[in-house]
Amino acid sequence: MRLDKAISKFYNVSRSQSRKLILKGSVKINEKNIRDISFEVYPKDFISVNQKKIEYFDYIYIILNKPAGYICSRNRNEGKIIFDLINTNFSNELSTCGRLDKDTEGLLILSNDGDFIHNIISPKKDIDKEYFVKLKYRIDSDINNLAQGVFISDDEFVTAKRIDILDEFSLKITISEGKYHQVKRMFKNVNNEVLYLKRIRIGYYDLPASLKLGEWIKYDREQIYQKILKIDAP
Ligand code: URA
Repeated sequence: MRLDKAISKFYNVSRSQSRKLILKGSVKINEKNIRDISFEVYPKDFISVNQKKIEYFDYIYIILNKPAGYICSRNRNEGKIIFDLINTNFSNELSTCGRLDKDTEGLLILSNDGDFIHNIISPKKDIDKEYFVKLKYRIDSDINNLAQGVFISDDEFVTAKRIDILDEFSLKITISEGKYHQVKRMFKNVNNEVLYLKRIRIGYYDLPASLKLGEWIKYDREQIYQKILKIDAP
């Protein structure tokens, strides 16, 4: 990647600010000052701006264990935002791959790879999203309606792909769409109420038990395609 583009992207400044930094000698590649804006940089290069290490990135895939109380938005007026949990020079690049509500916890993928995000969230691709649910009222036979399909609004018909009842008040549910408040609205439809919701799986990938709330892991393109979809990255 050309150096002026790399600094603008990795240091999160405009292209003209990036060129100024390079020309005034603030940028080092592998410990050497480089003042050539068209110098080529590669992923293995050690890049620094004003003595601060800058990470080279291209496609990024983050798995976050989202805590309750954070919103999947860039708008801080609405409260704490998930991007603050990923406090790196690439967090500005990321979009969420299927939002979770403020009070929902669990597996959230973030990426700057639009095609990958589309592959995961498009209902046509039929990728599983599994949730652990605690309910307010005891589970009864109405729950079976969810597997037959329910209208959660006049024109939104959704089905549960799978339900595993764990005890009188808790279960796991697998869906493949990601409509607004979908799981909560599905249970409302069968006269129940979600008290606690956590996404525990997307595709073939289970939220790792070792990943604490608020912690995240970074994967590369090959890894994420294998882990979530069990296919080679295109
Ligand atoms: N369904 C919901 O109702 N909320 C979420 O956060 C995710 C799925």
